Amino acid sequence: MTEILVTAGPTREHLDDVRFLSNPSTGRMGYAIAAVAAAMGHRVHLVSGPVELPTPPGVERIDVISAEDMLAASAAVFPGCSIAFFVAAVADHRPAQRVVGKPAKNLGRYSLELVQNPDIAAILGERKGDRVCVGFALESFSDAESRSAAIERARRKIVRKNFDVCVLNGPSALGGDRSEVILIAADGTVQPLPHGEKRQHARVLIERALSIASARRGHTES
Ligand code: CTP
Repeated sequence: MTEILVTAGPTREHLDDVRFLSNPSTGRMGYAIAAVAAAMGHRVHLVSGPVELPTPPGVERIDVISAEDMLAASAAVFPGCSIAFFVAAVADHRPAQRVVGKPAKNLGRYSLELVQNPDIAAILGERKGDRVCVGFALESFSDAESRSAAIERARRKIVRKNFDVCVLNGPSALGGDRSEVILIAADGTVQPLPHGEKRQHARVLIERALSIASARRGHTES
């Protein structure tokens, strides 16, 4: 049994008690990974932004709202995990100030000051030790040129965030049950996955992460 962290869903960055900045992530890919990993007998901590999905059987779900909450919840379970899947669509920015209550609306044009959110994958990636970290990138790659540019960006992301594998998702991934996926590994390999359902892709990703983890353990033990 392996202990696995999965971040999933969007984050919400509140301006006040009722208004927030967010994105349309449904959480389906992260939930598929959590569900399949738990069904395979692994212990899964699912740190989830606000989504409309039921908790998969056997999964320990920790609900969070903002990127800062997601970082705190993920950092708390990360030390006990051997594998982490960073699937959440974390908002890049949050309002510099959160106002209490529901202030009257700002009519007409106004400016909102934003500050950058912590990069959860990058921060935990710095503390990864022997853990296997898998990240995601949303790209559009309809032709050979945009595909190789997307792969190049994924390679830079692998270095920047200390990922072992970066999962390149085509834009059809947003909201759907099916997605077009290419796995880019830190060792340079590029593996396009056959078109399929998110649960099928989830299984391939988990098996890949487990095999990297076991090769790493074998290497350390020998
Ligand atoms: N991620 C994270 N915390 C953030 C931002 C991203 O953990 N604050 C993780 C995501 O869960 C995902 C990966 O990092 O695994 C996505 O990286 P990012 O650089 O945000 O990808 P893009 O949104 O594709 O960004 P860019 O436009 O820079 O390519």
